[in-house]
Amino acid sequence: MLVNTEILSIVCGENAYYEKINRAASVIRRGGLVVFPTETVYGLGADATNPVAAKSIFIAKGRPSDNPLIVHIADPRDAEKYTYTNDVYYRLAAAFMPGPLTVVLNSKDTVPWETRGGLTTVAVRCPENKIARDIISASGVPIAAPSANLSGTPSPTSAKHVIDDMMGRVDMIVDGGESEFGLESTIVKVNSDNTVTLLRPGKITVEQLSSVAGEVNIADAVTDKLADNEKALSPGMKYRHYAPASPLLLIDGESEDIISYIKSESLSRVAVIVYEEDFEQFRASLPDVTCYAFGKKEDELTQAHLLFSLLREVDKENFDKIYAPLPQKSGIGLALYNRMIRAAAHKIVKV
Ligand code: TXA
Ligand code: MG
Repeated sequence: MLVNTEILSIVCGENAYYEKINRAASVIRRGGLVVFPTETVYGLGADATNPVAAKSIFIAKGRPSDNPLIVHIADPRDAEKYTYTNDVYYRLAAAFMPGPLTVVLNSKDTVPWETRGGLTTVAVRCPENKIARDIISASGVPIAAPSANLSGTPSPTSAKHVIDDMMGRVDMIVDGGESEFGLESTIVKVNSDNTVTLLRPGKITVEQLSSVAGEVNIADAVTDKLADNEKALSPGMKYRHYAPASPLLLIDGESEDIISYIKSESLSRVAVIVYEEDFEQFRASLPDVTCYAFGKKEDELTQAHLLFSLLREVDKENFDKIYAPLPQKSGIGLALYNRMIRAAAHKIVKV
């Protein structure tokens, strides 16, 4: 069923700022759906304490109902109301909140089954984006929000992406400009023995997490394909994600060898995502191939910012194949690696 979607552009510091924030918050309070910007990607929000509202998120996204939602809070201490916190949570919060970190803890029964996707745990996150936090505060309720894409498409990093996916499916889209980082938050689970497991890599790196929480275990699904009988620690990891319609192949090697490999495949409609340093060489050597620039090799922040936007762009063309470089597995590279191997359905070639 289609609803009327209002697009509301909000700029920090503008005169009508709080009036607009309150309008968005009132939609949340009455059980409606509001897409809002965060520093990672846009979120599709509803009152996390309202089971009917939470359920409508799954319908709008086309998301399986066993895939739980992140509960967004305006103050890290609000986690008390919804979860059983501990010392490790507060150490992580002191270091990284507000910011792009989500922490999974045991849930209190203040969080409805629908929001938790039936799990006994719940994920909490206090975003850094001012518009996001002001909408949560003004709502007076926590906001459950997955990324605001249709299930299976890349997470949206601009209001334009959201409009492509969500017009007619939500009550309001708040346009707050481009998402600063561009990949979803780092997710960790705090285990009963106080150890920490990384469920999804993001801007807050393993190295940063270890510096405040000790050793961090990395869930298998972060870098590897789960075996058919293996249970995902995070339900979202078992779903195919971010997959472009054309097959994506990650390719690792020297430029010359990559170019020879692409030539040897002799396909007709081909795209290659390439680091800026190599861009001219690729364009000159592969005149029939469409090249997309992906920032400089060492500039993982730019790559993170561009990735989902690029995947959406290549998806509009009908390529026979898309080639992209294989990222490093350290620092922010691990987040790029995790998203890109999933987009490529784990197809990697070394040349
Ligand atoms: O940056 C982000 O985290 C964005 C913005 C909007 O905040 N949100 C986001 O939500 O990426 P979503 O739903 O697209 O991804 C959340 C992931 C899913 O894979 C889900 O399975 C997992 O978090 N998750 C949520 N609650 C969980 C829980 N209790 N235990 C384990 N995994 C959980
Ligand atoms: Mg998502």
